[in-house]
Amino acid sequence: MLQIRTRPLVKGMLSFVLPGLRSSHHAEITGTASSRYCYTVFLRHFSHLARFNGGRLPRVIVELGPGHSLGTALAGVIAGAERCIGLDLQNHTRRADNLRVFDELVALFRARTPVPREIPIATEPADWGFPKALEAGLERALDARRLARIRRDIEAGTGDSVAFEAPWSDRAALEAESVDWLFSNAVMQHVDDVAAVYDHARTWLAPGGFMTHEIDFSSHRLTRHWNGHWAIQPGAWKLIRGARSYLINRHAHAGQLEAMRLHGFTVLEEIRVDRTDGLEPRHFVEPYALMSETDARTHFAFVVCQKPHHAGNGHAD
Ligand SMILES: C[S@@+](CC[C@H](N)C(=O)[O-])C[C@H]1O[C@@H](n2cnc3c(N)ncnc32)[C@H](O)[C@@H]1O
Repeated sequence: MLQIRTRPLVKGMLSFVLPGLRSSHHAEITGTASSRYCYTVFLRHFSHLARFNGGRLPRVIVELGPGHSLGTALAGVIAGAERCIGLDLQNHTRRADNLRVFDELVALFRARTPVPREIPIATEPADWGFPKALEAGLERALDARRLARIRRDIEAGTGDSVAFEAPWSDRAALEAESVDWLFSNAVMQHVDDVAAVYDHARTWLAPGGFMTHEIDFSSHRLTRHWNGHWAIQPGAWKLIRGARSYLINRHAHAGQLEAMRLHGFTVLEEIRVDRTDGLEPRHFVEPYALMSETDARTHFAFVVCQKPHHAGNGHAD
């Protein structure tokens, strides 16, 4: 119990009676409301994806948990993708932010801006330069009439080239085999039912489709040590979670990878960012006490994985 910081514990407990405290979203953290942040996240994910898909921009892109704006997936549409879809548990976006971020992203692409260095990022891009793979289609992608059509789509919310569903709940959110690339950034640590998400992703992705995920395995400052969440007893964890719609799921690195593999994905690349400080596995409670030393030290991971070409959608429905 000493491991838990007072503020999140009090917030968790009060959230049972005060609905206003049931969001884990921090409005003061700009995140995807910043176009340079979105541009950085997009180029970073794409730079890793490009190593495995021949540098092609996927046609249909899904972002899980876009946060403040749809900007990261919008970057894909500006660069030439046909359509993007954001799926979130809650709607944290505002149309005005989406439009502003869209305009600023267009300017970043027009200038062929390399990955901004000032944005603090956990895992590095495979290439810090502007992706050569995007150059070929960029003139066509940045055609003024095309961009005006996409902007009108965001304004009107028609969903033709930019769609958003929040809250999304089940497999029916998207058509089977309709997606070429599904990515998430700082989201999979918040998802309660990780297995369901990978299962649905397998259905939604076309054969040979890709996923990229950046996952933060830290305690998100809920505890005194960065990995102290694995030392909290289940009863105390229930209090800190309270009635919030999401918090963190406490899966370690190996658990996320195992869930991807169990749902038929081939892991092509994984980048881990480790920490040497914090607690050791012997301080953790079960089942976390059984985790490997590597898992106990993994703060961030970036993963590229692929649905096999010969795979079906895995479901009869
Ligand atoms: C830390 S924010 C990350 C936002 C953004 N991707 C970024 O890079 O800043 C976590 C996001 O995950 C969303 N989220 C949590 N659980 C989710 C779920 N089951 N499905 C989709 N999104 C979820 C939250 O609503 C929030 O938008």
